Order: sequence, then C-alpha cells, then structure tokens
Amino acid sequence: MSEQGNTSDKVITRAWWVLILTTLVVGGVGFFLIVVLGNQIEVEDPIVENFTPTDLFVQPDAEWNTSVLVAKSPETREIRRLTWFVFSIAGGIFLVVEGLLLYAIFRYRRTKKQRLEETGEPVQLYGSNPVEIAWTIIPIIIVLVLCLATIRTIQTVQPTKNDRPENALTVEVIGHRWWWEFRYPELNVVTANEMYIPVDRPIWMEIGSADVIHSFWVPELQGKMDAIPAHTNYWKLTAEKVGTYLGQCAEYCGNQHANMLIRVVVLDESGFDGWAKDQSLPADNVTSDQVDLGRKVFLKYACQSCHAVAGVSDGTYAPDLTHLMSRKTFAGGMIPNTADNLKAWIDDPAQIKPGSDMPALQLTPQEIEQVVAYLVTLK
Ligand code: CUA
Repeated sequence: MSEQGNTSDKVITRAWWVLILTTLVVGGVGFFLIVVLGNQIEVEDPIVENFTPTDLFVQPDAEWNTSVLVAKSPETREIRRLTWFVFSIAGGIFLVVEGLLLYAIFRYRRTKKQRLEETGEPVQLYGSNPVEIAWTIIPIIIVLVLCLATIRTIQTVQPTKNDRPENALTVEVIGHRWWWEFRYPELNVVTANEMYIPVDRPIWMEIGSADVIHSFWVPELQGKMDAIPAHTNYWKLTAEKVGTYLGQCAEYCGNQHANMLIRVVVLDESGFDGWAKDQSLPADNVTSDQVDLGRKVFLKYACQSCHAVAGVSDGTYAPDLTHLMSRKTFAGGMIPNTADNLKAWIDDPAQIKPGSDMPALQLTPQEIEQVVAYLVTLK
C-alpha cells in the first residue's frame, strides 16, 4: 500500500514536470519564431517594401482603431453592452469555480500526519440529489439569461428588410475577391474600398457579393454582416463622429482575404454633399499629349473591359475608376494611391497581390507611364 502510494505520487510529480517543460518549450519556440525570426523577415521587392502594413495603418487623418470594445455608434454600444454582460457572467463563473477549486486544494490537502499514517483513500461518495439538481438548474438559468440578452441585442442591432429608416441613405455594398464596391443608387455614385457617409444619418446597407461569401465588418460602427452571392442582407449603422474608421473582410474568401480592407470616411453633412456631387460627375477631361496617349492605351488594352470610367468605358467587373484619385488607397485598400504605386501595380499585380484578377497586360514601360499619366487625372 505504502509503496503503491509513493509510486503514484512520483508518477503525478513527473506528469507535472512534463507539462511544465512542454509549456516552456512550446512557449519558447513560439516566442523565438514571432519575436526573433519575425524581425528577420525581409521584403526584397523595393515596391512592396514601400507599403508595409505599419505604414498603411498609420495615417494622420485616421483613428485606426479596430477594437471591438470601442463603440462609436448606437449599434456597437449595444453590442459592447452585451459583451461586458456576458464577460461579467463568465468572469463570475470563473471566480467561483476557481475559488472553490483552490479552497478544496488547500483545505483538503493530505496532511503530513495522514501521509505518515497512510490512512488510504478519502471517503468515497456516490450520488447526491441536491448537488445534481443544483448543477443542472444553475447552468440552465445562466444559459437562459445569456440567450435572452443576446436575442434582445440582435433585435436591436440587426434590421429586417422592412426596417429601413425614413431618412436613411442607401449604400449597396458588394464584396468582390478582393475589394469592396459601394454603390449609392440615390446619388448616382459608385466607388471602391472607401465608403463615404454623412455623420448622424442612418446608413441603410444592402449587402451582397459578386463571387464568394465575404463579411462586411467595421468594428467601431457595426457588427459583422455576411456578403452572400445572389442574396441581399440588410444592415444599418449611424456614425456619430466625423473621422475615418477601419474595417476588414471578416469571412475567409481566398488567399487575399486579409487584403480586403474597408475604410469608412464619415463627413459632416455639407462635406458629404460636396463629395457626392463631385463623385456623381464625370472626371475632369484633362487633355495633354501624354494623357491622350494614356487614354488610348487604356482603351486599346483590356483595361476598359473591366474598369468603368464615366464617359470613356463601362466595364463592371473591376473597380470604377472615374474618380480613382479621390481615393487614398487601391487594390482592396492595401496600397497608398500614388502614381508610383499605380505603375508598379499595372506592371505586375501578382507581385503585389498574388491571386488578384487584375492581369499583367505586358505593357511597355512607356505605355505604363502613359496610362498612369491618364489615370492620375481621374480626380
Ligand atoms: Cu472577402 Cu474575406
């Protein structure tokens, strides 16, 4: 008996050591990979090097906060309230369970005297109706409370087709691999990746997809809503503060899922009206030798069959370029929108965004110069 007791003690001690050492080794390897090797990764392409994620996220006019705990709209405040409610219940359960566990560990520890006397196994208990009833009823009540609170939040936050507010602005949101299209049917405006909205006015979104399932998610303004092909989901939000809010496709949709960013630019009423008016007009018709040559390149190659430029071409497969230069970014929000970046993109899109449907059209360096000279006039 005594020998047996000692053997099982040894086995348990050994098991603890194995657990602790495994944790240390796995943690150490993880730390090494992330911190030490992570810093060694070098991006050799000079163009890709120019837009590291840190550059993208630090932009002077933007509050780059994607925390789910920061609420900047009535909808996210409601979601945050539920989050903290659920968290406090879960936290309470954690404290009670761990507290009882620690109490039991220390209160009923085998004493030195017991160890010397080898009193054997503790008293074994089988079945206790009060205990069984308690641990059945209490979880049922907890789950019921969580369920009711969640249903209430969903009803507040998630509209049905008939819930469109009277004074709302409609935005059709269409997910593409890998960029976002925003259409404003009441304003005759089409844009990509950067959704402009007025402050303090309900935005009514009709969300769909052109290919696979995506998910529209701007954490500070609303929860996630799936973008599903051949199906419309309705979503609404009201931004309460002027600024730029960052979002991200939240449903894995292929290898560039991470580069399917959303920027929501909230403007005051007059600012938004000005933006919408500019966007609804054709682009300025700039003419110069280089620009005219660039327009010819644009029309000669496949550019025009995918991209629309009001009055010039009417492709719908790819982002509308009528006011390309009014956007801060392109390629699904991953690249700062500059002439140099446009040249690199047109030269070899796969180098920057592998898997993108934008083809390398094998333009000569001269043709690239010309077409970009034209594109940068699209303001
Ligand atoms: Cu689109 Cu993930």
